[in-house]
Amino acid sequence: MAQTMFERYGGFASVSKVVGEFYERATESPIIGHYFAGKEMRTLIDHQTKFISSIMGGPASYSDDQLKVAHANLKIDGQAFNEMATILSETLEDYDFKAEDIAILVRGIQDRMHIIVTQ
Ligand code: HEM
Repeated sequence: MAQTMFERYGGFASVSKVVGEFYERATESPIIGHYFAGKEMRTLIDHQTKFISSIMGGPASYSDDQLKVAHANLKIDGQAFNEMATILSETLEDYDFKAEDIAILVRGIQDRMHIIVTQ
């Protein structure tokens, strides 16, 4: 049977490394860094790792309802959302993800824009 993207990139250990680097960059961004001030980053990284892993065909799941609740009070606009998607895509590139795999992940994020963006 064909391997999933999750398996091809080395499972949770690898995905959580990429996600950790992604949040390093997100917290330093002048556009979105302030959203993360005072947040519990360890939990955030764990949950985001589950979300990304689920899009990669891994065993984790993270529901759209959970996503909605987590972002409901954050007042996220389209510009902030696009910055987040751009940083993720650049981080994946730097970790040698293939363009076609990055496209799948970015699409998984874009598909949920209406759940996250409230402004
Ligand atoms: C589709 C895009 C996004 C995904 C998949 C995503 C995913 C997640 C996940 C899985 C969590 C953890 C929630 C939990 O603990 O249950 C979270 C929390 C959070 N997200 Fe996002 N996120 C996205 C977009 C954004 C954007 C655009 C921003 C801000 C610019 C943002 C800011 C935050 C913040 C500040 C938290 C922490 C909330 C808290 O601890 O109270 N997210 N996100």
